[in-house]
Amino acid sequence: MSRGLDVRANERHFVELKDYIESIRDSQGLLMQTLHKAQEIFGYLPIEVQKFISSELDISLAEVYGVTTFYTQFNIEPKGKHKIGVCLGTACYVKGARSILDQLAKELDIEVGQTTADNLFTLEATRCLGCCGLAPVIMIDQDVYGKLEANNIPEILAKYRD
Ligand code: FES
Repeated sequence: MSRGLDVRANERHFVELKDYIESIRDSQGLLMQTLHKAQEIFGYLPIEVQKFISSELDISLAEVYGVTTFYTQFNIEPKGKHKIGVCLGTACYVKGARSILDQLAKELDIEVGQTTADNLFTLEATRCLGCCGLAPVIMIDQDVYGKLEANNIPEILAKYRD
């Protein structure tokens, strides 16, 4: 689910980005520095922000988009306050990670890679998290939850909703 940025509501953020660009205009690596700053300000790099950068730096939108999507540190979708990583490594998969993932998707009403409408959670699938003895495992931010069953999910999510 991709949501457009409300440009009017974010006007002061565009002003802040413009001021930043002016302050570094003569430096090397202007585009990368600007993208990092824009992500810090907006939390992600929606197309509206990419267009603004393209115009301010006089660089084609195709180039801005190319750089934004090439580097994994840049997000073009909004990220939630809490990142949920569901391990789909072999040990977790064998122990039922799929049903954990399905339960999370159902509870949050999103698919893998998406963020909830309230921007609270982003759901991601990950490789082995290095604690296979606890399979199936999920991580929410820095917290690890292991030996999970699908019916544990509502209680775990509730901790992050307060
Ligand atoms: S396979 Fe999930 S922690 Fe290793």
